[in-house]
Amino acid sequence: MNVLGIETSCDETAFSIVKDGKEILGEVLSSSLKYHKKYGGIIPEIASRMHLEVEVALFKELLKKTKLNYKDIDLVAVTCGPGLLGSLLVGVSFAKAIAYALNKPLVGVNHLHAHLYPVFFNHNLDFPFIGLVVSGGHTNLFYVRDFLNLELLGKSLDDACGEVLDKIARILDLGYPGGPFIERMAKKGNPKSLSFSPIKTKAPLDFSFSGIKTAVVYYLKKRGFLSGLKRIPLSLKYDLCASFQEVIFNSLIEKSFLACRLKKVNRLVIGGGVACNQYLREKFLSSSLKEKIKVYFSPLQHCQDNASMVAGLGYGLFKKGKSDSFDLEVFTD
Ligand code: KG4
Ligand code: ZN
Repeated sequence: MNVLGIETSCDETAFSIVKDGKEILGEVLSSSLKYHKKYGGIIPEIASRMHLEVEVALFKELLKKTKLNYKDIDLVAVTCGPGLLGSLLVGVSFAKAIAYALNKPLVGVNHLHAHLYPVFFNHNLDFPFIGLVVSGGHTNLFYVRDFLNLELLGKSLDDACGEVLDKIARILDLGYPGGPFIERMAKKGNPKSLSFSPIKTKAPLDFSFSGIKTAVVYYLKKRGFLSGLKRIPLSLKYDLCASFQEVIFNSLIEKSFLACRLKKVNRLVIGGGVACNQYLREKFLSSSLKEKIKVYFSPLQHCQDNASMVAGLGYGLFKKGKSDSFDLEVFTD
């Protein structure tokens, strides 16, 4: 079964065709990131306009690339939330139009659940498992009984993990999106050089990252760095990045393993943009040895937003009996 996946929840317009939830026949992606960079964050109106501008040409490019015809598509899967309202509406309207024109079924996919799917491109994983989604908009822990039955165990009470990396990167004037810049800076710093308090939350599986951002701001203010008169030395930026990244990543690791222990599951799946971070991947893997938990990371090329994860999960949901009518609605969070 060839599934067309459509992803437009944020700044990426992406299409993919995946066969039987396993074999990626082709994928195309256009990002409007360069139009947002100067604002230091995504501007929703620009994102939705750019989806509209590129979607038809991009879809045609996918058909050309895969040497497939419209008629070879058996199912249309589309991200219907969470995400930016305007952006989601563009993708969902496109999906409805294609499904209607081809007289094929339509299935709406939750973007966060889809971030846990790419592991299935390389593994035949058993259910249940614990899923950690670490992206720019969310930090969520799920108990995944199957893809129709996910229990939210914990989430960020304030900033998402990627969001806080992006915000601190802006304070340090590193660039947007911040995660990759911080990863590079942190490699040159000492994670033990500055001590940030460990993150505490009332419910043990929830996350909280905004306190770290405030601690970084106070640290810099106290030393006169945020007045615009004094430049932050590069060596201090290295140590700061290494130190706060360490505290943030320790929190992700501790809570994910705690969820595994509480649910008595020894499989942990990790997806979302922050999972691109090589240091996080290594830290998770080395900690997992003593916990006897098998950690599965999304393949690097599918950690960030993409349409193959949507097509893959769409197939899984359809096989379990889910399909949507043309009344399918979008949701923002
Ligand atoms: O999953 P994603 O592409 O989009 C959302 O659904 O939000 O994640 C984007 C986030 C950004 O906050 C970005 O800074 C972060 O992923 N990110 C990283 C790395 N690459 C991207 N964070 C840490 N290390 C990286 N190498
Ligand atoms: Zn995402």
